[in-house]
Amino acid sequence: MLPGREREGAYLNELLNGVREGHSAAIMVHGEAGVGKTALLSEAFRAAPDLRVVRAAGVESEMELPYAGLQQLCVSMLDLLEHLPQPQADALRTAFGLIEGPAPDRFLVGLAVLSLLSEAAAQRPLACVVDDCQWLDRASAQALAFAARRVQAEGVLLAFAAREPSQDFEGIPGFGVEGLRDPDARALLRSVVQWPLDEQVRERILAETRGNPLALLELPRGLSPAELAGGFGLPQALSQDHSLAGRIQESFLRRVEALPEASRLMVLLAAAEPVGDPALMWRAAARRRLAVPWPPPRPHTSRVLPKPPAGCCRPPRLRVSAPWESSSAPRWT
Ligand SMILES: Nc1ncnc2c1ncn2[C@@H]1O[C@H](COP(=O)(O)OP(=O)(O)O)[C@@H](O)[C@H]1O
Ligand SMILES: [Mg+2]
Repeated sequence: MLPGREREGAYLNELLNGVREGHSAAIMVHGEAGVGKTALLSEAFRAAPDLRVVRAAGVESEMELPYAGLQQLCVSMLDLLEHLPQPQADALRTAFGLIEGPAPDRFLVGLAVLSLLSEAAAQRPLACVVDDCQWLDRASAQALAFAARRVQAEGVLLAFAAREPSQDFEGIPGFGVEGLRDPDARALLRSVVQWPLDEQVRERILAETRGNPLALLELPRGLSPAELAGGFGLPQALSQDHSLAGRIQESFLRRVEALPEASRLMVLLAAAEPVGDPALMWRAAARRRLAVPWPPPRPHTSRVLPKPPAGCCRPPRLRVSAPWESSSAPRWT
């Protein structure tokens, strides 16, 4: 189980056990960026290989595209559409551009989602994980919330994560994810700082990060071993009066700026690529004749892009501190 998340993990486990017994539930997990919502849900569902897990995540650049998020979630279940009442099936088919027609009735789309999820769950208990709901397009958010408010005994769990609870998800029970408690925060900090850490610097990092795991992982990276060891007063990065999010962003930015030109262009590409399709990224890189070896030698993109995963650059933090914010930003010519 994820350190410091025993209570939340146990609660999610309980919901999963309910789903195994044929109950349904919906839950909204909210909390500030980096607090560990994605990690919490991933960990819970990793421990449930007997369930069918389908996923989607809001993508900032797709917010204006109606049903983009819903399509992500449903794409692997489309073969079940033929079991739905015709008007519902057609509403979803139209929403996903599979057949032509005027914009579908949103009520029908909501009903269709509910029917589709219960069809899928009839084969095997189903868990739907929808991350970064703050970036879901409105039509998807409404359809998913509509279904989530109506699940009963299908064997479906809908788990949502968002920075803040929003009106679209009103009526869905939820809990806030808070920063790690002091001992867990200290343990996480110990695990990332391999150099001697000055007592004052340690306490300052702990106070500034308020147990936010991303901040605990990232802030020390912005400090040199000499700064971590103290002796010269508080490191500048800690003494500046910036927001935590701003500092994490600066930390990413510093790491991006330290990369060679080709690698920075690669990061720029990854940040611009919305869905995290590595094949697409490599094709784009090849077209630009970008020769970035993989895995890259250190210090290179490997520290910024840990692997070429689905969801390529650790979105969205890196995306917002993308290289174009930098004065030395690389530019396509
Ligand atoms: N309880 C935890 N213990 C250690 N690391 C954690 C914990 N929760 C999250 N992390 C790490 O912190 C970072 C941010 O977590 P993430 O789940 O992406 O946050 P969010 O989804 O809330 O923005 C990730 O690198 C994640 O692995
Ligand atoms: Mg997340």
